[in-house]
Formats: sequence, C-alpha cells, structure tokens
Amino acid sequence: MFSRLFNWKKRENEGFDLPIPENANWSFLGADLHSHLIPGIDDGAKTIEDSLKLVRAMIDMGYKTIITTPHVMIDYYPNTAQTISSGLAVLQEAMKEQNLNISIKAAAEYYMDEYFMNLLDTEPLLTIYEKQVLVECSMLYKPPMLADIIYKMVNAGYRPILAHPERYLFFHNDISTYQELKDRGCLLQLNMLSVSGYYGRNIKVVADQLLAKGMYDYCGTDMHHERHAATLKAMAATKDYHTFAGYPFLNSRLCF
Ligand SMILES: [Fe+2]
Repeated sequence: MFSRLFNWKKRENEGFDLPIPENANWSFLGADLHSHLIPGIDDGAKTIEDSLKLVRAMIDMGYKTIITTPHVMIDYYPNTAQTISSGLAVLQEAMKEQNLNISIKAAAEYYMDEYFMNLLDTEPLLTIYEKQVLVECSMLYKPPMLADIIYKMVNAGYRPILAHPERYLFFHNDISTYQELKDRGCLLQLNMLSVSGYYGRNIKVVADQLLAKGMYDYCGTDMHHERHAATLKAMAATKDYHTFAGYPFLNSRLCF
C-alpha cells in the first residue's frame, strides 16, 4: 500500500506527464461498489432501458464487476432487502436477454439516521464485501448521531464505508475530521467524479487533499444517469487517468 502510494505521489509531483494509454478506460479498477442501476427504486435509473444503458456504459469502461447500491432512505426511498433483490432479479433477467455479460450483485447505500440506527438492531445489513457496509449522510448538516451510529456499526461487527466524504460540506473546515472517522473504523470511498470538478471546485479541492494524504480506500462511480456515464468515460482520457491508475484503491478485491 505505502509503496504504491509513494509511486502515486511521485507521479503527482512529476506533473502527471506520463502518456495516457490509447483507449484508456477504468478496467484496472475491476469493480465498482457504488451505483444506482436498479430501475425505479431510487433517484438512479428510472426504467429498465435506463438501467441497461448504464450497465452497457460500465462494460464499455472496462468494469468486470458491479455492486449496485440503491438508496435506503426511509423518507424518500424506503427500500428493503426485498425490494432490492426483486429489482436486481428484473435487471439480471433483462441483462441476460441483451447478452450483457458482467458480474452484478446488489447491496445498499444506507442513509445514517434514526431509522438506520433501528435497522441495525432488527435485521442484517446488505454488505459490499465481508462486513463492509456503504453509508451516507446529509451533505449539509452533520447528523447529531454520526459518532453513535459508527460506534454501533463497529460494535455489531460491521465496517462502515463512508460514501463520498469529500461531498460533506460540514467537514471541509477541518480536514482532520477525516482522520477521526478512519480512527473510528470507517473506510472512505471517493466519488470519481469529484476529481473532475463535476460537483464543484470546493469538492474537488478536498478530494485532491484526501488523495494526497492517502486517505481513500475505494473509489466509486456513484452512477445515476447517462451524464455521469459520459463524464466518467471522458475522464479516462484525461490526466485524471493517472490520478487513479497508481493509487492503491482496494476495488479489485471486490471482483467475483
Ligand atoms: Fe450514491
């Protein structure tokens, strides 16, 4: 991990003047662990046609494995293990008909609130890998129970993967908070689009800082729609390719 990070930093200091391979894509990542591809159950793909377009885009970009993660957010997307597994079955059937060959499974992106706190007591969570669980919170306000939820998850044997930490504005003033999250047992997942500036300049700045400090464990597409797919595809042909290529992301261990 450290020597790969060293190489990554060395390349960063050299100004990424390495050539970008022809037909560069994201195949070196192997697996993606964050997307919204199941039709009609959250703010991602609306129809099965949308889903198939996004799956095709993932295959085009070189991915071998997709772990798709519908929102579980009681007020807006009250998904359960049942709605997610039946949605996945519909998608898998349509992929088979269209000969789209890529390994796919579903987990969830859990919104950390009181409902989630109770869920922890009542049923097993959908996991990304071993006991790792993708979680998110409000972008604007720090949830008062954040530390309690993380503590409870870790105590229950789970490992939280905090989705897109660079997007939470309330963390921006104090970059050391990210180390605290890691010390409490969180893994951190970069949204790849943050590096391109897609979500704004401030978010890119924080993403770059966290990359430079080697804080991220995974990167994910957080793919919702075709604009995301087009931007991700275009990014692979820019210097951002090298930002990702040498960084020791753990994505490839998720391939199945
Ligand atoms: Fe997401």
